[in-house]
Amino acid sequence: MIPQTTEPRPPVDHGRAQHQKAGHPRTEAARKTNHRAPTAAATVHADSAPRPDQHDHSALRAALAAATEDTLVYDLDGIGRQYAALCAELPGVAVRFAMKACPVDEVLAHLARLGSGFDAAGPQEVAQALSTGVAPELIHYGNTVKSDRNIAEAYRLGVRDFATDSLEDVAAIAEHAPGSRVFCRLATTGEGALWGLSHKFGCSPEDAVRVLDAARAAGLVPSGLSVHVGSQQMTAEAWGAAIDSLAAVLEALNWRGITPERINLGGGLPALGVLDRRGRPLEPPLDKMFAVIREGMERLRAVNAAPLEFLLEPGRHLVADHGAIRAHVARLTSRHRLDGTGEDWLYLSCGKFNGLYEMDQLQYRLEFPTHPGGQFVNAVVAGPTCDSDDAYAQDGGRVRVPRAIASGDPVWIHSCGAYATAYATRGFNGFAPLPYTCVGGGPDPDGGAS
Ligand SMILES: Cc1ncc(COP(=O)(O)O)c(C=O)c1O
Repeated sequence: MIPQTTEPRPPVDHGRAQHQKAGHPRTEAARKTNHRAPTAAATVHADSAPRPDQHDHSALRAALAAATEDTLVYDLDGIGRQYAALCAELPGVAVRFAMKACPVDEVLAHLARLGSGFDAAGPQEVAQALSTGVAPELIHYGNTVKSDRNIAEAYRLGVRDFATDSLEDVAAIAEHAPGSRVFCRLATTGEGALWGLSHKFGCSPEDAVRVLDAARAAGLVPSGLSVHVGSQQMTAEAWGAAIDSLAAVLEALNWRGITPERINLGGGLPALGVLDRRGRPLEPPLDKMFAVIREGMERLRAVNAAPLEFLLEPGRHLVADHGAIRAHVARLTSRHRLDGTGEDWLYLSCGKFNGLYEMDQLQYRLEFPTHPGGQFVNAVVAGPTCDSDDAYAQDGGRVRVPRAIASGDPVWIHSCGAYATAYATRGFNGFAPLPYTCVGGGPDPDGGAS
């Protein structure tokens, strides 16, 4: 049975007892500091109950306005509302937050308090997840790429659920994590996503049957299947295609006497507040995606000979729109290209190497709080380093920038809460990663900053 995340979970459970036995001194301290009585934000909202608005950015804006230096702000209550909204859309689906999207202790601890588990990519992430006090049963090793040592270490830390997509990996799991549960990742096309994730991970349906067959023969539990439809997926059809593929493999597995017990529907759910490379709003059909996923779950349940449970490992969808950067203007300049064309450039204190890793694939909404009106120029936006990759896409859209903006003026960069902290370099060209601040997350989940 997958520990469900749609209801707030009590802090202590069987898994924790196991975890302490394995000798993790930090766990008890983490439990004391991180866990408290379940709060209203963690509950699934009945249809009739008013739902807190996950798009309320007032706390984030207040923190941006209060900042006098560059910082990345996470709104923990906003992330909590996003989590609750997701649980309400997909009742009964257990959430394993993809840590890579935001490996910030406070964010992880907040999600753990709300009942989330974690998708970890290696033993270091497993250890960080455990430091929130979450039980090892709520952590799975979602990376199909792992060394013998990685597997053994994760197993030692208490992890018993491993993603896989090859016979070689199955053999290694059987040796270094004996008796564990494995779920096989099916390849997807990645179509419709900004980042397809289609090459490095996942196997064919035929391979998946072979892999789970081998797992069973090696004494592992062939517990399920997983997919990832690509990050910032923009189409509901991608989910439909993934469900088709899952249904076909489930049938083939059942025919061979393997009845998976869980399906991991992966990540891919989009951020809502970002723009495409041309600067046009990305408007993912979120309601339709949820409808396709709900219908797909019913379909897969009907196919499988045993009851099925569902997992989701969202990353950016939970955090992107609840993180924002207060940066400042380095300079607005105007110059001519070799062909004589004039071009304006806005250089910011923050760019690809210290917080905006994805800036060449999408655009963030910028706000200039000290210059709400006046005359504008259309500029290319770039970061502060001496590197030409540190810019919005060259073929991308220009951004409206107040002509009067001056060096040092604040700039707010919205919806950059995902993949910001972890992708920051260690100080490329001397530009340090931004410090971060968390607001909210206090005892009153609808309340203000803590
Ligand atoms: C295995 C796995 N799960 C989940 C995610 C999270 O994806 P997203 O941020 O698109 O939700 C990723 C991201 O690449 C991943 O590799």
